[in-house]
Amino acid sequence: MEPAGEAPRNAQEWADIDAWLADRVVASDAVLDAALADSDAAGMPAIAVSPLAGKLLHLVVRLAGARRVLEVGTLGGYSTIWMARALPPAGHLTTLEIDAAHAEVARRNLERAGLSSRVEIIVGPASETLERFRTEAVKPFDVVFIDADKKSSDEYFDAALALSRAGGVIIVDNVVRKGAVLDAASANADIQGIQRMMERIRTERRVTATALQTVGSKGHDGLMIAIVNPG
Ligand code: SAH
Ligand code: DHB
Ligand code: MG
Repeated sequence: MEPAGEAPRNAQEWADIDAWLADRVVASDAVLDAALADSDAAGMPAIAVSPLAGKLLHLVVRLAGARRVLEVGTLGGYSTIWMARALPPAGHLTTLEIDAAHAEVARRNLERAGLSSRVEIIVGPASETLERFRTEAVKPFDVVFIDADKKSSDEYFDAALALSRAGGVIIVDNVVRKGAVLDAASANADIQGIQRMMERIRTERRVTATALQTVGSKGHDGLMIAIVNPG
């Protein structure tokens, strides 16, 4: 470590501090560890939220008193477990995943976590499932976490808005991408999707939003957090 008071200068130092914080506020947890280990063993990318961010999602679900949570982008169910554990016994989480192999790993991870009865994984393109939810006018969600293909972040945000109750919370992961969002001429579809979503927030009066940069074990990125204003 650097001497006290000196600013961290590199990714390793940010990661060290992340680990130091997590060591204090996130209890070690065999079920979460196993979820990551099995995701890794299945060849899935190590792109689950960090432990500190997972715990933030958990706290948000509790702060919101949420009973209905929607997640877009399941992967191995790591963030799913964090959020589902924050639900009351009668609570329910729906998570959308396009990749059947990812969904199968997540299903086993949720089973081991004892959360199967509270979580439904819907396999398919999120855009189709979200469209169906709108058509069917499903009961509004209290918290929505958007963390799938970034090129569609703006579309998922619109759907989340339509599917949320007044006072509900919408969180979008990966809104910084190491600062790549600053490149207004970016040809990267993922960056463009995030840029469109954030541009919408600028004038979207139906939400009250903020955004936070994150550094540490997952590199430099960020979260957008919004509350849906009463109509
Ligand atoms: N929320 C997870 C990480 C999700 S990674 C966690 O923090 O633990 C992004 C996931 O979104 C991947 O599993 C990917 O397969 C899925 N995905 C990508 N495009 C999608 C789409 N169009 N519809 C639904 N899921 C999609
Ligand atoms: C990456 C990180 C994420 O949190 C995600 O949802 C997708 C991709 C990445 O670092 O590539
Ligand atoms: Mg993410």
